[in-house]
Amino acid sequence: MAKAAVMTGIDQPLEIRDDVEVESPRAGEVKVRMGASGVCHSDLSMVNGTMMAATPIVLGHEGAGVVEEVGEGVTSVKPGDHVVISWVPQCGECFFCQRDQGYLCEQANAALASGGLLDGTTRMTSKGGPLSQMAASGTFSEVTIIPAIGAVKVPDDLDMKVAALIGCGVLTGTGAALNTATIRPGDTVAVVGCGGVGLNVIQGARIAGATEIIAIDMNETKLALAKEFGATQLVNAGETNPVSRVMELTQQRGADVSFEVIGLGETIEQTITMTRRGGEAILVGVPRMDVMLTLPAFFGVVLQGKSIKGCWYGSSNVQKDVPKLVDLYKKGELKLDELISREIKLEDVNEAFDAMKTGEIARSVITY
Ligand code: APR
Ligand code: ZN
Ligand code: ZN
Repeated sequence: MAKAAVMTGIDQPLEIRDDVEVESPRAGEVKVRMGASGVCHSDLSMVNGTMMAATPIVLGHEGAGVVEEVGEGVTSVKPGDHVVISWVPQCGECFFCQRDQGYLCEQANAALASGGLLDGTTRMTSKGGPLSQMAASGTFSEVTIIPAIGAVKVPDDLDMKVAALIGCGVLTGTGAALNTATIRPGDTVAVVGCGGVGLNVIQGARIAGATEIIAIDMNETKLALAKEFGATQLVNAGETNPVSRVMELTQQRGADVSFEVIGLGETIEQTITMTRRGGEAILVGVPRMDVMLTLPAFFGVVLQGKSIKGCWYGSSNVQKDVPKLVDLYKKGELKLDELISREIKLEDVNEAFDAMKTGEIARSVITY
């Protein structure tokens, strides 16, 4: 039996259950004993109804652990391997994977929508009924079963907390800058929203060679962190109009590349507007399903030769990008320890959501 944090309904605190039965892995699956799990904004988005959840569901999708058992046919990892969990398992064979767009993998997509693993069913039960698993993972559990293609091997000496963060916020944020966007050395980049993901966009932009990085947030603690991660200009959106400020800082041209990393209609509009003619606006934050974009098609987009690009999971190829990020971390070029504001226990997950709502912290990380 395992302990897990279970969402039972919208706006309900997660229930800590210790009666969770976790099956053995089936063919193509692995059992992972969790080492650590980050608490990401998308977990909160499930709780508050921004994203749809098939309840009861074990939340958590940003995790790392040790493989305990493998199902039939699994050769990519073995018991004892340390792995980062990719909540977008990438099959390598579908239409998208064949075009190096594994972040859009058809198998992963089906699993995401089902609340189960690749076949749509789940391996956890509690109180006599099945539990869904968020994003084919469910990392708010001492033990979980995931598709083997969602397990990415990492070195044994990598801190589990750091490995966990790579699985979502780091891949997404750095990937937005290094994969989704085209940042040229010397570029001016604007980042709207400096939370766990936005800070990684900032360091990705720095690695890509951006000279000016304008960080925009409403929270001074986040802006201070943004500076630590490489921002060269700080804009408090609660005090200053961020679009006017970016224009002022760029001879009224706008940023070469801008990122929205919150998921609000208003900040998405600001991000597109603060992007220069010929530039790129990259949308990373996950908005509510009912948020619509209305743009002046001619003056806002066509005449401006402006690109607006959606970014899902940092356009990552997890088997290539995870080792690359571990390498950058080991060389001291990627700050990961600094993202961890608090180390908590599974029982404290609801308080981690409260802390996230205040905007005061980058990441709370559960250790098991
Ligand atoms: N203007 C500027 N900054 C804002 C505004 C606003 N109107 N509203 C919120 N913010 C800031 C918050 O202060 C916080 O620092 O946006 C940041 C959001 O950070 P987190 O809550 O830590 O969220 P994060 O985990 O980084 O995720 C951001 O990316 O992957 C998606 O689902 C995720 O949509 C979410 C987004
Ligand atoms: Zn996440
Ligand atoms: Zn695929």
